[in-house]
Amino acid sequence: MKIIALVCVLFAFIARAYSASTTWGVQNTTDIIVLNQNIQYPAVRNTVQTLYFNVPASYQSNSKVISAIYLQDQFKNSSGPTNTLVWGGPGWTFATIQMKTQSSYGLNVTFLVYGR
Ligand SMILES: *[C@@H]1O[C@H](CO)[C@@H](O)[C@H](O)[C@H]1NC(C)=O
Ligand SMILES: *[C@@H]1O[C@H](CO)[C@@H](O)[C@H](O)[C@H]1NC(C)=O
Ligand SMILES: *[C@@H]1O[C@H](CO)[C@@H](O)[C@H](O)[C@H]1NC(C)=O
Repeated sequence: MKIIALVCVLFAFIARAYSASTTWGVQNTTDIIVLNQNIQYPAVRNTVQTLYFNVPASYQSNSKVISAIYLQDQFKNSSGPTNTLVWGGPGWTFATIQMKTQSSYGLNVTFLVYGR
């Protein structure tokens, strides 16, 4: 019974996809910025691009437990990507976020990752 409930929660979690600006977790005033990074990818005509953002970044390490991740869409119109947390996130020291661009659009997003 417990396992079934857990699986349901997991599926509900995975099914949560977001558009454009997205926030995961809750930031505490005492939390510090682990990562502040702007990411830009050019558009590819008639193509939906699937891109990934990782914490920690390549060749970096992170020992802080993530409390919140802010993904800010810099396009600020309705052309931003659809974002899904696929691995880790708040409560973990790592995270992988998948960003799916809209067809024929690139992306320009800023990541702010807080940890404690
Ligand atoms: C924020 O951190 C402080 C100190 O660790 C803690 O007492 C407080 O409960 C935290 N607040 C939230 C909302 O997590
Ligand atoms: C991305 O967003 C930043 C901040 O709004 C802006 O300065 C920059 O010119 C944008 N880059 C592109 C390629 O749109
Ligand atoms: C949204 O903004 C971006 C960057 O300024 C631009 O490339 C794109 O064409 C805009 N989308 C729409 C639907 O206006």
